[in-house]
Amino acid sequence: MDSFSPALLVFNLLLYLLTYVAATDSLTAQDPYLRDGFSLVSSNGNFELGFFSPGLSRDRYLGIWFKNRRGPTSVWVANRNTPINDSSGVLVMNITTGNLSLYSHDSTTIVWTARLLRKISNGVLQLLDIGNLVLRDGKDENPLNYSWQSFDYPTDTLLPGMKLGWDLRNNINRRLDAWKNPNDPSPGNLSWRMELHEYPESVMWKGSQEYFRHGPWNGVRVSSRPLGIAPILNFNFVSNEDEVYYQYSVPNKSHTVMVVMNQSNYLRIMYLWSPTERQWRLYTSLPRDFCDNYALCGPYGYCDIRVTPSCKCLEGFKPRSADSWTAGEFADGCERNKLMNCGDEVGFAQLNQLKLPDTKRTWVNKSMNLEECKQKCLSNCSCMAYANTNISGSGSGCALWIGDLIDLKLIPDAGQDLYVKMPASELVKRGEAQKTDRLKPKVKISLAAIVASLGLAVLFIGLYIFKKRSTVKDGHEKIEAQDLELPLFDLSLINSATNNFSIDNKLGEGGFGPVYKGKLTNGQDIAVKRLSRSSGQGMNEFKNEVILIAKLQHRNLVKLLGCCIQGEEKMLVYEYMPNKSLDFFIFDRTQRQLLDWSQRYRIICGIARGLLYLHQDSRLRIIHRDLKASNVLLDMDMNPKISDFGLAKTCGGDQTEGQTIKVVGTYGYMAPEYAFDGRFSVKSDAFSYGILLLEIISGKRSRSFCHLNDQNVIAYAWRLWKEGNSEELIDDAIRETCIISEVLRCINISLLCVQQNPDDRPTMSSVVMMLGCEISLSQPKQPGFFIENEAISRKISSSKDKSSSTNELTITLPDPR
Ligand SMILES: *[C@@H]1O[C@H](CO)[C@@H](O)[C@H](O)[C@H]1NC(C)=O
Ligand SMILES: *[C@@H]1O[C@H](CO)[C@@H](O)[C@H](O)[C@H]1NC(C)=O
Ligand SMILES: *[C@@H]1O[C@H](CO)[C@@H](O)[C@H](O)[C@H]1NC(C)=O
Ligand SMILES: *[C@@H]1O[C@H](CO)[C@@H](O)[C@H](O)[C@H]1NC(C)=O
Ligand SMILES: *[C@@H]1O[C@H](CO)[C@@H](O)[C@H](O)[C@H]1NC(C)=O
Ligand SMILES: *[C@@H]1O[C@H](CO)[C@@H](O)[C@H](O)[C@H]1NC(C)=O
Ligand SMILES: *[C@@H]1O[C@H](CO)[C@@H](O)[C@H](O)[C@H]1NC(C)=O
Ligand SMILES: *[C@@H]1O[C@H](CO)[C@@H](O)[C@H](O)[C@H]1NC(C)=O
Ligand SMILES: *[C@@H]1O[C@H](CO)[C@@H](O)[C@H](O)[C@H]1NC(C)=O
Ligand SMILES: *[C@@H]1O[C@H](CO)[C@@H](O)[C@H](O)[C@H]1NC(C)=O
Repeated sequence: MDSFSPALLVFNLLLYLLTYVAATDSLTAQDPYLRDGFSLVSSNGNFELGFFSPGLSRDRYLGIWFKNRRGPTSVWVANRNTPINDSSGVLVMNITTGNLSLYSHDSTTIVWTARLLRKISNGVLQLLDIGNLVLRDGKDENPLNYSWQSFDYPTDTLLPGMKLGWDLRNNINRRLDAWKNPNDPSPGNLSWRMELHEYPESVMWKGSQEYFRHGPWNGVRVSSRPLGIAPILNFNFVSNEDEVYYQYSVPNKSHTVMVVMNQSNYLRIMYLWSPTERQWRLYTSLPRDFCDNYALCGPYGYCDIRVTPSCKCLEGFKPRSADSWTAGEFADGCERNKLMNCGDEVGFAQLNQLKLPDTKRTWVNKSMNLEECKQKCLSNCSCMAYANTNISGSGSGCALWIGDLIDLKLIPDAGQDLYVKMPASELVKRGEAQKTDRLKPKVKISLAAIVASLGLAVLFIGLYIFKKRSTVKDGHEKIEAQDLELPLFDLSLINSATNNFSIDNKLGEGGFGPVYKGKLTNGQDIAVKRLSRSSGQGMNEFKNEVILIAKLQHRNLVKLLGCCIQGEEKMLVYEYMPNKSLDFFIFDRTQRQLLDWSQRYRIICGIARGLLYLHQDSRLRIIHRDLKASNVLLDMDMNPKISDFGLAKTCGGDQTEGQTIKVVGTYGYMAPEYAFDGRFSVKSDAFSYGILLLEIISGKRSRSFCHLNDQNVIAYAWRLWKEGNSEELIDDAIRETCIISEVLRCINISLLCVQQNPDDRPTMSSVVMMLGCEISLSQPKQPGFFIENEAISRKISSSKDKSSSTNELTITLPDPR
């Protein structure tokens, strides 16, 4: 030791490195240790086992990851609950006992140990090409004889070939648990697991509450799965006395896929590796929409995402409490129009296209046919419904539901048939109509229903509360004391920050009032929106609503920093966006050169994600109603941020009792059904998004657009599409640099968004999906034109005081009645 020489040290180090870095895929009796700093690499080079520190954490974990395509997380973690606080970790395969253990601190502490299924001699620990770490007998490669495998203990990621579900023989429950956060792989509150009901199904749990049911397997697919998504995965469901599990495979060898549970956005996310971009892209996510929230519509209610409000009662049922349904609180569910007692004469109503109800209380016989199934259900008073367990061919198998039917969802063009028990008298009333499908997707909304629901809907702006009833009162979410975190700015502070609202500080004029730039004393730049005084809203109501809006946080939404309420003044304080708004770029002859296609594409995707968040992911369901280029602000890095969301709610001047309903929105972006009938929905926002997309691609305003005989940008785009000349639409400024296939895809998506019939338009979640991967798109149908004809002009009374800086009129429609 006294002859210490740096050269020798380096030499030793090199030798050491050479021995280990020449990557091997296994530990054997000759070399049964894996120390921090070293790794195993699968023989195809796809996977690596080693020590890592997640995110900002300095703790060390043993895990497996994709070697050359680092994903959002490591695909497997051994010691997720027991981090090692330094680099002393060492994985040891004990030759004498066969144990596999992870030690820390000079091999004194066992941090993690594998639960072995059988004792092996001559052990080998090998990282397989599929990402499975297996402990096996040196000579025995039979998977059935593994002593232990990481695939049996998933963390948050399901790789192709892994199983989600039970090994009943060895009592192993293979489930996914999301990481607590990106810095901490210990289990968070979100898990996905197989429930061993009579009729098994996989369920996502949020803590101890059921969150999303994937629905039981119906022999072809899970019952919640919509059709029309190009399948990248082949699902397989196995249920026998040894095992109950799902598994997937990827038929196309050029696709690399993983399924990851993510705590932070409460989604199961499926990622697809994009070889061209060299990054993971979101392919799809679960739950698919808010209708997937467990038991949203209560017993005997079902959820139809395409209409507002989305909860409905099954036919023959009515809301248990009409008041709470009117208030937008559906969890009470529905009850029978006519009481049904045991011994009554009963029959069955056939309902179609449903995600089958919760299978907690079911009874199954896989060899019965439908008629036997019906007889079985008739013979048991607690049986409320039956269905086939296997829908392929003419259908087979029998499932009975005992007790209330919970968590039904309409799956247009998919789902399956459910036979619900009814008093015979109710069936007679339905007559032969019972055989037809009240639940088919042709849900038509009558004008009366619209007007009736509009008052309410406008009041809530599609406000949707998934939380328990207790948080809802009088149609407003109660604001708890600790929720009042929104800073209230003092008027004098705002005055000095904006130089007394000096004209030099004025940034522009939005639909709801002028906007000023300001600088706080701490140097932070802010934008102050001074709301016009006309809105007759009470202060408390205003404050409550602003607090709700402030809770909406997404990186594609402008952040609300606070508000100022003093006397007549109501102001909103936002983060300042140095790059102004999108219209400033795309419609300007010189500025448009600064936005190349890749930036525009990023903006397109960002807006879609922001809008999706408003529609679906935020706790409130906000319909923007005024999406347009000037409402998309750009930050320092040209990231898009949607502004003015939720303002229609606070400032739209909506009357409470549904007497006069003002339609806020901007001419040229409005969906026809909204402009004409005041019907707004997530689909009218999708329409506006479609227009915005066309503007971003073409650099032309949807209004004040004149090209030959085409009235507006939609007509122009539609004509070119039909002629097969869509490329002509592309803005000259990006024509050189753009990826034509991507642009054409975006044009296709935009035309899908502006289709005449709202039901045909995609939801924003579909839009995000279509943007995110190469699934094939459908052909758009006839778009909804917003044509300036007499009939419409008469309805529209444009109010001058609301005109915006860009001369787009924010118009006000009278109640269509
Ligand atoms: C790491 O953990 C060990 C025991 O688990 C403890 O003795 C040691 O002080 C810790 N070291 C640091 C740097 O926290
Ligand atoms: C293997 O386990 C035995 C018994 O627990 C122990 O005595 C021995 O030191 C272990 N060997 C190694 C290499 O850790
Ligand atoms: C190691 O193996 C022995 C014998 O198989 C067993 O009794 C012991 O519990 C194991 N130790 C650990 C830490 O798993
Ligand atoms: C599994 O291992 C057992 C004993 O270790 C052996 O008898 C059996 O043949 C093995 N099974 C297969 C399928 O190789
Ligand atoms: C969850 O998703 C978010 C957003 O996509 C990402 O930032 C985060 O790292 C993910 N969490 C984990 C644990 O991977
Ligand atoms: C998990 O849920 C509990 C209670 O529901 C909550 O206090 C905790 O913050 C949640 N943890 C995470 C990581 O969300
Ligand atoms: C597999 O995927 C690649 C890339 O998406 C695609 O080009 C190819 O056509 C696919 N092959 C098959 C057989 O579907
Ligand atoms: C399932 O149904 C078949 C056909 O009706 C019948 O033979 C069998 O006994 C039933 N099994 C059970 C457990 O009821
Ligand atoms: C109805 O069926 C359920 C499930 O098989 C059973 O628990 C219950 O006892 C049955 N009730 C009657 C009255 O047969
Ligand atoms: C479902 O039915 C089809 C056709 O009758 C049959 O081929 C298939 O094996 C059945 N599936 C199951 C899981 O029983």
